[in-house]
Parts: sequence; C-alpha cells; structure tokens
Amino acid sequence: MVAGRYLVTGGAGFVGSHVVAALLDRGDEVVVLDSLSTGHRAAVLPGARLVVGDLADDELVEETLAGQPWDAVLHFAALSLVGESMADPFRYIGVNVGTGVRLIAACARHGVRRFVLSSTAALFGGGHSAPIDEDAACDPGSPYGESKAMLERALVWADRVYGLRSACLRYFNAAGADPAGRLGEDHTPETHLIPLVIDAALGRRAGLTVFGDDYPTPDGTCIRDYVHVSDLAAAHLAALTLLDRRSLRYNLGNGRGSSVREVIASVERVSGRKVPHHIAGRRSGDPPSLVAASGRIIAEAGWRPRHTALDDIVRTALDWRAAHPQGYRSSPSA
Ligand code: UFG
Repeated sequence: MVAGRYLVTGGAGFVGSHVVAALLDRGDEVVVLDSLSTGHRAAVLPGARLVVGDLADDELVEETLAGQPWDAVLHFAALSLVGESMADPFRYIGVNVGTGVRLIAACARHGVRRFVLSSTAALFGGGHSAPIDEDAACDPGSPYGESKAMLERALVWADRVYGLRSACLRYFNAAGADPAGRLGEDHTPETHLIPLVIDAALGRRAGLTVFGDDYPTPDGTCIRDYVHVSDLAAAHLAALTLLDRRSLRYNLGNGRGSSVREVIASVERVSGRKVPHHIAGRRSGDPPSLVAASGRIIAEAGWRPRHTALDDIVRTALDWRAAHPQGYRSSPSA
C-alpha cells in the first residue's frame, strides 16, 4: 500500500501506540489524538504528530478531522477495564458509547471512508468451552464489553447509511511489548495480569493476588488468550487493505488459552525468579475462559500471529519492564 494518512485516537495508549509504530514503520503519516489521561506522551514515537485533547471536545474533534484527507480513522481511546466497569457501569457505557458515536458521526460528516474500532473479546460472556469465532453470539459479560458491542452496532448503521466501512477488531488479551524495545505496557494503576506477575517476579510488588481458583477450568483459574500487541498491530494493517470492499469483524488471538497459573509459571521460567502469590475470591465480571478462533482474518487477510509462544510474549514484556522500572516515566521524553 502507498503511504497513507491516519488519525489515531488513543494512540498514546498500549495497543494504539503499537499500531502507530507499525504505521510509521511503513512510512505512513500519523496524527494521534489523545487526552493523555491514561496514555503517555513518550509512547507516541517521533514521527507522529500528537494532538493532546479529549474526544468529548466536539470542537477539537471537528477541527482535527477537518485536516483531511484521512485514509482511515482508528479509534482506540476508551475506558477499558472489565472490573472497573462493573463498579461504574454507566460511566463506561456513557463515555465509551457517547464519545465513540460522536466520533463515528463526525467521520461520516467529513467523508471518512474507513474506520477501525478497537473492540474486544469482552463482547463474549462466559460459558465458551471452544475457541470463539465471529459467529458466536454477542453476549457481553460486563458494561465495558457492552459499550463496545453498542459501538459495533453503531458502525453497522454508519456503513448502511453513509457507506463508512469499518473493521471491528476484537482483541483477546493484548500483551507483550514492541520487540525493538521502543514501547511497552504501562497503566496506572496496573491491573493487567502479565505486568503484575512480572512486577511480582522482579520484587517490585509484594506478590500477586490470583482472582479465584474455583472456575470450571482444568486448574481452577481463568483462561485467557494472550496475543502479542505487535501481532495485533499487524492485524490492523492487514484489515485496512480489505476495507475498501466491505466492513469486517475479526476475532484476534493465538487460539490458545493460558490459565493464570500458567502465566505465573511462564514468568517464573523466563525471569528465573519465583512469583509470590496467594488465592483470593473471584473478580466481578471475569468470564472463566476466552480463547479466540482467528481463522477468518487468517483466511481473508493473510494475518498470522508471529509471537505464538506465551514465553515469547512474556519475554518482550519482561525486557521492557526491566528496562523501564518507572514505566514511561523512565523514558527521556516523558
Ligand atoms: N488476574 C488475577 N490477578 C490480578 C489481575 C488479573 O488473577 O491481579 C486474572 C483476572 O481475574 C483474569 C486474568 O487474570 O482472569 C486476566 O485479567 P486482566 O485484567 O489482565 O485482563 P482481562 O481479561 O480482565 O481484560 C483484558 C482487557 C480488556 C479486554 C479483555 C479481553 O483489559 O480490555 O482482556 O479478554 F476486553
């Protein structure tokens, strides 16, 4: 594809920043719109232009979109924690759906032809014993998942009414870090399993709390499909090539589940250190098992994850966290 021009909301966040890197690496022009409320200035690589501002600021969104033409708008900016959404459901639904729908409408007004939504495995509730494909019933187990389901539906209407083609990319558990060491995962507070297990191994926290060991899984802990964030970034580029033809919905994972206990064992193997941990009660909203069937994007777009081994994913995350003890605050441009 020839070099293009992309607007990336939430491009200073974990997945967004890796997608920005992939676009820059192939020579595209990128504008990032991010409030930096959870994202990091240092996560926006030099080469991209950063506009600091909130998606709730309609005027700013209008002004930014007016600087077209855009080859696509990629929308990552959102509240994204399953557990937090159970505690504050209408904030999640209100913010994610409100800002998302207004952005979609603004894109339609400005004649944007292609839109990519950062969607989620949280569209699918519990009770899946086999890998989940795109035909599985959408039955969100949390308000977070519900907010993304609503945006996916809004995009169906944007396509039918305005011809705005969209790719809804349902990430399973994004993990790892840029293998070149430029970017990593840094949330405050951190709630994601792999960075927490790594920090416990590195002695940066007292230990890990395992949320429940009484799930109907082989070892009793929850199973997730950890997929490398750079593989997710590559999936965005692959999906963009197909978007001129029609709208797309893809489930993105490795097709292999790992339990919380298996993640702990992997971090122990890769780091050579013990991970102190204890078992506590379940975390509200957590489905027992979420594993992707990604055959559709493999067949249609030729995407294939490269970092399929859990230890490989963990190693890239460990390398970045070891080199950045304060996360992006350890970066010179932070
Ligand atoms: N877990 C623990 N202890 C912790 C943190 C997590 O046992 O301290 C467990 C959770 O209970 C869960 C698993 O580790 O079973 C993974 O939890 P994460 O918080 O890392 O990830 P989630 O599966 O809750 O959610 C992530 C993203 C969502 C996305 C979802 C898709 O945060 O945005 O993956 O599966 F929707």
